[in-house]
Amino acid sequence: MKPLVGLLRSAALTARRVNVALTFRRRFGFDPPPHWSDLSGYESLLRVIVRERLYELDGDFVEIGAFLGGGTYKLCKLLELRAPQKRLYSIDVFAADLDRTSCTQGDTMAEIYARVLQGRDQLAVYKDVTRGCANLTTIVGDSAKVDLPCRTVAFAYVDGNHDPAYVRGDFDLVWPRVVSRGVVAFDDYGFDLPGVTAAIDDRIALHRAAIARTWTAGWKTIFLQKR
Ligand SMILES: C[S@@+](CC[C@H](N)C(=O)[O-])C[C@H]1O[C@@H](n2cnc3c(N)ncnc32)[C@H](O)[C@@H]1O
Repeated sequence: MKPLVGLLRSAALTARRVNVALTFRRRFGFDPPPHWSDLSGYESLLRVIVRERLYELDGDFVEIGAFLGGGTYKLCKLLELRAPQKRLYSIDVFAADLDRTSCTQGDTMAEIYARVLQGRDQLAVYKDVTRGCANLTTIVGDSAKVDLPCRTVAFAYVDGNHDPAYVRGDFDLVWPRVVSRGVVAFDDYGFDLPGVTAAIDDRIALHRAAIARTWTAGWKTIFLQKR
């Protein structure tokens, strides 16, 4: 990674960490998991879920790409408090070396994950972080091959394999089940993975008539709300 970009990224991460530590419980009603277990910062998702009252819609929540489970934990605990009858279905292949997509700074996703993991076993860490999430169903597998057990989806977060074919396929897996006013969010929009941005734009164009609105939040999250 280029030194200036690396410095800016770590300054932004530190600022986010301090902010989360100070405000999370007051805002969402539970304590956050360890900061290192949530890569993308699920607070921006939780804020939208609460603001749009997505937990009141028909359907469950889906996450594609859990990594170490901190974000999974946040989605589960929010659901537990606001809609205890709903489940989170979380899909991950738990093989951090599979995604060889390169970001514009030159690192592959596999290299970035290896740096965070520092030799730890991804699935073991995930299980530890999410233990106690009684409303969680974990689906260990390739998102292009798994079956989604839920009939309807109120909210989905896509942050799995960054190959554009996977991004399109992950959207196609959840979108037909998303209910009216339901939301699909993607990480990595308009940031350092241009292939991901193009794949999301492709799906927005293809489904334009069924999309009520799109908006972005944070550095790189995009939300698509169904009509
Ligand atoms: C960027 S990480 C997810 C980070 C997590 N959303 C967070 O913010 O903490 C992407 C995840 O996708 C998973 N993944 C990669 N290829 C996959 C595939 N084909 N099917 C399912 N998951 C995959 C990786 O194992 C990794 O855990």
